[in-house]
Amino acid sequence: KTIYILNGPNLNLLGKREPEIYGDITLEDVTADCTRLGAELGLNTELMQSNHEGQIIDWIHEARESAAGIIINPAAYTHSSVAILDALNTFEGPVLEVHISNVHKRESFRHHSYVSLRAEGVIAGFGVEGYQLALRRMASLLAG
Ligand code: DQA
Repeated sequence: KTIYILNGPNLNLLGKREPEIYGDITLEDVTADCTRLGAELGLNTELMQSNHEGQIIDWIHEARESAAGIIINPAAYTHSSVAILDALNTFEGPVLEVHISNVHKRESFRHHSYVSLRAEGVIAGFGVEGYQLALRRMASLLAG
C-alpha cells in the first residue's frame, strides 16, 4: 500500500527555517526516516512538498487512484484553505494531520484548522517525530 505524505509551503526550508520552532532536521532526513519506517510497516511512502496550493490539491486528486492513505502537513494552508479541505473530502481513505510545532501554543490564527474537519487524527508539537507517529497510526488504521 502507498501512503502520500504531503507537505505545504515553506517546509522545503525545514532545518533552516526558524530552527527554534521547527528544529534542525531537514525534509530530506524526514523523507529517509519515513521510507525506512514505511518499509518496516510494509508501506510504500511518497513524501512530497509544494509551495503551491493547487499542486497539493492535484496530488490529493491523484491519491484517489494511487494512495491508501494521506498524511498531510498543510503548513500555513491549514489555517486558510477550504480548497484543500474540499479535496481531502473527495478522498476515501484515512487522513492524518501533522504539525511539527504545537500550533495551540502559538498565535491564535494557528488554532483553527480546516483540515481537522476531515482528519481522523492530529499530531502537533512532537517535532518531526510526528511524521513517524502518524505513519504508525496509519498502519494500524489500514490494518484494522
Ligand atoms: C506548521 C504550523 C503552521 O501554523 C505553519 O504555518 C507551518 C508549519 C507546523 O508543522 O508546525 O508552516 O504546519
